[in-house]
Amino acid sequence: MTMKYKDNPQAVADLVRPAEVHRDLYIDDEVFELEMKHLFASTWVYVGHESQVPNAGDYFATEVAAQPILLARHTDGEVYVLHNRCPHKGTKIVIDRAGNTGKFFRCPYHAWSFRTNGKLLAIPLKKGYKDTGFEQSEAGQSGLPPVGAVKNYRGFIFVRMKQEGISFEDFFGGSLSSLDNMIDRSPVGKLEVAGPPLRYMHSCNWKMLVDNQTDTCHPMVAHESSAGTAVEIWESLEKDENTKTPMAMEVIAPFMSPYEFFEDMGIRTWPNGHGHTGVHHSIHSDYSAIPGYLEMMAEAYGEERAKAILGENRHNTVYFPNIMIKGPIQQLRVFIPLAANKTLVESYIFRLVGAPDMLLERTAMYNRLINAPTSIVGHDDLEMYERAQEGLHCQELEWVNVQRLYEEGEDLDLEAVENGTTERQMRNQFHAWKKFTVESMEAEARDLADA
Ligand code: FES
Ligand SMILES: [Fe+2]
Repeated sequence: MTMKYKDNPQAVADLVRPAEVHRDLYIDDEVFELEMKHLFASTWVYVGHESQVPNAGDYFATEVAAQPILLARHTDGEVYVLHNRCPHKGTKIVIDRAGNTGKFFRCPYHAWSFRTNGKLLAIPLKKGYKDTGFEQSEAGQSGLPPVGAVKNYRGFIFVRMKQEGISFEDFFGGSLSSLDNMIDRSPVGKLEVAGPPLRYMHSCNWKMLVDNQTDTCHPMVAHESSAGTAVEIWESLEKDENTKTPMAMEVIAPFMSPYEFFEDMGIRTWPNGHGHTGVHHSIHSDYSAIPGYLEMMAEAYGEERAKAILGENRHNTVYFPNIMIKGPIQQLRVFIPLAANKTLVESYIFRLVGAPDMLLERTAMYNRLINAPTSIVGHDDLEMYERAQEGLHCQELEWVNVQRLYEEGEDLDLEAVENGTTERQMRNQFHAWKKFTVESMEAEARDLADA
């Protein structure tokens, strides 16, 4: 490896220009390691939803910042986020993605055991450590170590891996309105994950997925083969005034909307890399009403507020760095970076507690049609990511352009609403990428110099 970027915050900062970014951001292994260590550790990263671990002893295992992590529900009712690593010799404590461990975790190697809040419970043949100073060792003190900071926001669990850093509220700011809207769509203000996610491995950099969530110039082009074909077939069928548009058609047809539709829908950006498409309307605006739902919402919130909640049709909200949510259909996609050219994508759907089942039916249909490993739409995108991952190795061109509707002096630390085809949200993400990665690298350099 070249070691061009390690210990060189300036070289990393130089990868991001106001309206273009260097290809190494997507293809360089050293950059990948640095962004896991610095960006993913300094920011608030989504881990999971509390409904994935409803009972004491339930756990859910995932990766954050390329490290094994687990969520566990303890007997005190709290959800703990712990490093999934035995303090003895490093064995991963759980390897299943989810399950119930009972009263304690037991390491499969030498049977050290831990409470579900991570505390060391017992070690077999403990007398062998007598008078060895074991209590002072890392292994003797740590149990399964907690992550730096945890925030359970209305059931959504985020962590900051570092002990110190930006607060949850400062990091997300006004962007929490998208999560609020998704949750408020339940008459009782509560969501539950509905089943396991659809998992889909992508041979590309995680940022290609994040960029794509607010890329509004691609649907009518890249999805012509899937959505375009579906629309063409539907239009060719004989219909009369009694023919109902099938739910699947309602879901897929808006992907073929023209550029003007996407320009008019607007993009909002918030500081620290967050933003959403669909300010004024979106591909979710014209779904048919679900019988009885508005009435339930009006009873719970009052008519005016119920209409305001359901009138928000935000399309994709990016919570930088690693998730996208869709409020109107209660969906969350998490992008789990595994290597510079490998990303695991998990698409979760939620049940709106207290709302009609037909909403979940539509959400599940959307997920299968658009995001499943067997979907027809998601593959169009994957094909483009993989082509870009290969194309970026071209030595002739070094920069990736994100200049659309750029204006000199653009201030990404201010919230803004713009034309829906702007690439401002992508610039916003790279601005945050640079800020958090470089700040953390500089802090590390200072700590080393002080030591
Ligand atoms: S590695 Fe876990 S008990 Fe030995
Ligand atoms: Fe797409």
